[in-house]
Amino acid sequence: MINIKSRDLIQPDDFSVEEINSVLELACDIIKEPKKYTHICDGYLLATLFFEPSTRTRLSFEAAMNRLGGRVIGFSDSNSSSTTKGESLEDTIKIISNYADIIAMRHFEEGSATRGALVSSVPVINAGDGKNQHPTQTLTDLLTIKSLKNTLENQVIGLCGDLKYGRTVHSLVKTLARYKNNKFIFISPEELKMPDYIKDELDPSTYMEVSDLESSIPKVDILYMTRIQQERFSDSSEYERLKDVYILNKEKLDNAKEDMLILHPLPRVNEISTDVDSDKRAVYFEQAKFGMYVRMALIIKLLKLNCENF
Ligand code: CP
Repeated sequence: MINIKSRDLIQPDDFSVEEINSVLELACDIIKEPKKYTHICDGYLLATLFFEPSTRTRLSFEAAMNRLGGRVIGFSDSNSSSTTKGESLEDTIKIISNYADIIAMRHFEEGSATRGALVSSVPVINAGDGKNQHPTQTLTDLLTIKSLKNTLENQVIGLCGDLKYGRTVHSLVKTLARYKNNKFIFISPEELKMPDYIKDELDPSTYMEVSDLESSIPKVDILYMTRIQQERFSDSSEYERLKDVYILNKEKLDNAKEDMLILHPLPRVNEISTDVDSDKRAVYFEQAKFGMYVRMALIIKLLKLNCENF
């Protein structure tokens, strides 16, 4: 069994590749034998603090803790918290860490999870900080790829859409680059290109930047579609101009590899037409389910709970 050294998960680099693999292995065992884990978190409390909207991340964390026998407190709308009275993020986290054993937090500001972890007396999981990172979505994506492709290596991954503001792609690229021989095609309009601070960490021979989706589709093993992040635009006319720049439909899949996977962190808006949903390569709903299992594994690991088989 590999124990996780870091107390928190703020960005994917907090875990070594071996540690990430051990979370994925545990998630696979939970999928195989869920009954083994139904009481492992008895007596433990998870706090979900969501200062930004969420469906999958918050509810999969809550489902995960409930399925492990633990309980959940928290808020899904910070307007119902004392933030509205001017309480700082630091004070909020200090208080909640007196009540809960582990915290999953989402916030609209980059760096907020780091600020939370610095003052928390219990583990903090970054459930998304602004346009920065979303490490548990990355664990979700990795578990999906590992389960359906049986490897995390030697893949050509096309990432399409809002690569500037999409925190899921930032975390995913940083992490997949740590596995052998993965290559990336960044597909975006000029205005929404992958930020330099992510590209600077990559070997330049491992990625290319293009704007055309159709010509990229036949080359990729994994197509990772993303939503244009309306909430991060300061100019609404810019969003209106770019929002439908990529729409994947059934016809565009004609030249795709038979075993290509189509992933999307969801929610989707228009970027994947619903006629794609029935294609066997479209795995984004299954992906969201993997998210619950990987969060179960992550909670067990960060609480340093003993699993007989690991
Ligand atoms: N993928 C994801 O983060 O979805 P939510 O915003 O619904 O949590």
